[in-house]
Amino acid sequence: MCQLWLLLGAVICFLPVSVYLLENGLARTPPMGWLAWERFRCNTDCKNDPDNCISEQLFRTMTDLVVSQGYAAVGYQYINVDDCWLEKERNIHGQLVPDRQRFPSGMKSLADYVHAKGLKFGIYQDFGNYTCAGYPGILGYLQVDAETFGSWDVDYVKLDGCYAHPSEMDRGYPEFGYYLNQTGKAMVYSCSWPVYQIYAGMQPNYTAIIQHCNLWRNFDDIQDSWDSVQSIMDYYGNNQDTVVPNSGPGHWNDPDMLIIGNFGLSYEQSKTQMAIWAILAAPLLMSVDLRTIRPEYKAILQNKKIIAVDQDPLGIQGRRIYKHKGIEIWSRPITPLYQNYFSYAIAFVNRRTDGTPSDVAVTLKELGLVSPTGYRVEDLYEDVDYGVLTPQTKIKVKVNPSGVVILRADVQPDFNRRVPYYSTQRTPYNPLNQVFKVRSNGFSFP
Ligand code: GLA
Repeated sequence: MCQLWLLLGAVICFLPVSVYLLENGLARTPPMGWLAWERFRCNTDCKNDPDNCISEQLFRTMTDLVVSQGYAAVGYQYINVDDCWLEKERNIHGQLVPDRQRFPSGMKSLADYVHAKGLKFGIYQDFGNYTCAGYPGILGYLQVDAETFGSWDVDYVKLDGCYAHPSEMDRGYPEFGYYLNQTGKAMVYSCSWPVYQIYAGMQPNYTAIIQHCNLWRNFDDIQDSWDSVQSIMDYYGNNQDTVVPNSGPGHWNDPDMLIIGNFGLSYEQSKTQMAIWAILAAPLLMSVDLRTIRPEYKAILQNKKIIAVDQDPLGIQGRRIYKHKGIEIWSRPITPLYQNYFSYAIAFVNRRTDGTPSDVAVTLKELGLVSPTGYRVEDLYEDVDYGVLTPQTKIKVKVNPSGVVILRADVQPDFNRRVPYYSTQRTPYNPLNQVFKVRSNGFSFP
């Protein structure tokens, strides 16, 4: 018997990692949902803080609100538990046990509750000996834990990487993915594999990561501040040549949660996070108290036009295409396509702190929008329809400090329409009297 196990162990050890391929068919667009961590952290004090502690009640409440407050209707689907849901010890069968006080009904019951509301249920674990907050990790229990999640009807697993050797992740993450697959229950697999390797000075093998994970973290945890959001934007902008090509349907870079509606971001900054996350084809995982969120922040999270950019079926992650003197332009190719031309979402970000809006003027051509058939351009936050513009048209936007203007430019099919109809079809609101100058002499910032 022992020899058989040894033999099997050896076979498993030397199997090429590729036999574990994930192929679960999930996350064809970036996952959307609610995740506890950034807002509720590891609050286990249900005695003194029953409404905010990590407990089944919190997740039930958020499930109810995701549905009743219209988040589900615009695409938010997953209700995800993060760290601190576990007992400190496994049971006598070596299985994970949810905290008996805080999750008295157990995880299957919570998953059933979430499913009964038409949503999906996610859970958190860690590849190492412990989770980041010190609860039991999966090391040594990969198969049994995957089976446990399958038996609880889990739809999404975030596997963190604390208390683990980054060099073991190249084998461990695929192996756990394999066991998840073996359960027969398709589960989105969120990995922290690259970020821990990057911290350890390693170069992640993204070819393998793409094959085994539906999404993965590349950079620091988001915190409740504009500084944190900016550092994440900088990471993805500065490393775009490495990270952007890895993103696509079924496999996404994860710049971490949306913190919109919490304490740290202004209204402008919140709009910027939403816009840039959409440009990045990021998972949209809100971490906010849905009981108390103010309506203007809820409106940002529920902006259907920006969500449509994030969820664009092509799944091409956008890039920062311009950065100078505190002004950034980010661009993402999206549908529809016409001939060889993409449509685009374009975000203008003002990172200046000089207290007054900055004007940014640029031709579509300079942004890479060169279809001779033109583009229908609209603002995704303000109700402004620019009509159909030619590549030579110069657009001018006013961007508030730490704010954003995000436009969508849909390439137009050529209906033999040579005359751009922006000249006849203006919307009532037109702050752009100076804008439609056809000549361009480059980006300009007055
Ligand atoms: C790590 C992760 C966070 C969160 C915590 C929980 O820091 O990156 O997203 O899951 O662990 O302890």
